[in-house]
Amino acid sequence: MNDKIRADFPIMKRVIYMDSAATSLTPEPVLEAVLSYYREYNANVGRGVHRLSQLATQRYKDAHRKVAGFIGANEGEVIFTKNTTEAINMVAYGLKWAKGDEIVTTLLEHHSNFLPWLRLREKGVRVKIVKPSRSGIFDISDFEHAIGDKTRLVAVTHISNVLGTISPIKEISAICNENNTLLLVDGAQSAPHIGVDVEELGCDFFAFSGHKMLGPTGTGVLWVKDSEGIEPSFFGGGMIEEVSQDNYKLAVGYERFEAGTPNIAGGIGLGKAVDYLKAVDMDNIKSHESKMTRMVLEGLRDIENVHVYGSTNLKDRIGVVSFNIEGVNPHDIALMLDEASDIMVRSGYHCCMPLMKYLGLEGTVRASLYLYNTEEEVDKFLETVEEIAKVV
Ligand code: ALA
Repeated sequence: MNDKIRADFPIMKRVIYMDSAATSLTPEPVLEAVLSYYREYNANVGRGVHRLSQLATQRYKDAHRKVAGFIGANEGEVIFTKNTTEAINMVAYGLKWAKGDEIVTTLLEHHSNFLPWLRLREKGVRVKIVKPSRSGIFDISDFEHAIGDKTRLVAVTHISNVLGTISPIKEISAICNENNTLLLVDGAQSAPHIGVDVEELGCDFFAFSGHKMLGPTGTGVLWVKDSEGIEPSFFGGGMIEEVSQDNYKLAVGYERFEAGTPNIAGGIGLGKAVDYLKAVDMDNIKSHESKMTRMVLEGLRDIENVHVYGSTNLKDRIGVVSFNIEGVNPHDIALMLDEASDIMVRSGYHCCMPLMKYLGLEGTVRASLYLYNTEEEVDKFLETVEEIAKVV
């Protein structure tokens, strides 16, 4: 990736940022798009006929269209939320559950694609959990066994936020189709890094976060194949066609699910983030990250006392790499990386306690890469891990 891209992320002059799986950096054109909304046409959307409101409405709609195009969907099917968590909860609250319904999820899930389903046990819903191998790879026959007549929904991550491994969504989708089961995919770690096409994946719901793909914080997305299939979670202004004293008619399209004044600047910024990613090109991003991931995996493998988790096969994974140094608390390692070389990584449970318990770990250090990282930064990271592993 070139210097022009680096120049769009001024924070990178000060630090080596390897925590993009938590939240990515925000490039100047996205910041400009957000500021330009506030500076030049700050107005509410879908609620006014004046010039500023019309312009804001148009730009906010354009952002939906761009985000939809980014995942191979149509404008009206893409709902803006505040993050992946909200998007997944909207499905959990929006589907009607009956006692005896079953949900199949997995042990790789982030809490945001786990707790909304566990909570439904209060309604008599049974939650089945498919386990991956210790390196994060699923055996598809485990899904064949778990999914049956009573399964209403399968909720699975596209890419693990701890191990970086890619789940076999198309194969899972085929099993869901045979059983007439809905499929929700948590795309928080996939949409920013690998090209996604929801039709190709064959899912019914696809949730992801804007702030992990160069967009502003407070932005997320829920793609819904059949918007009539779920109830909105929130009711209020902007989501209806008509209201009388004792009735209402819901709007069609994304407006149905976006009650109240939305995060207009955030949504417009997210649209700009999509423009940015498309201009760089998702294939370029993928191959750049893959090169660096290989360096990280091979480099860590060669350092004594370092344990790396997840598949070592690059075909199975992306640049989210979890590791530990024997006998050292992951948070201490993260602090040392920051102090010694200004390297920012995440440490701890990564909101995946069930997985950590399964792996018998008290957390990991996680380095996560993105388009703006360089091979020089990876070298610096590996040197610093090696120094830490020597002295502790
Ligand atoms: N889901 C984000 C992460 O894994 C916050 O770091």
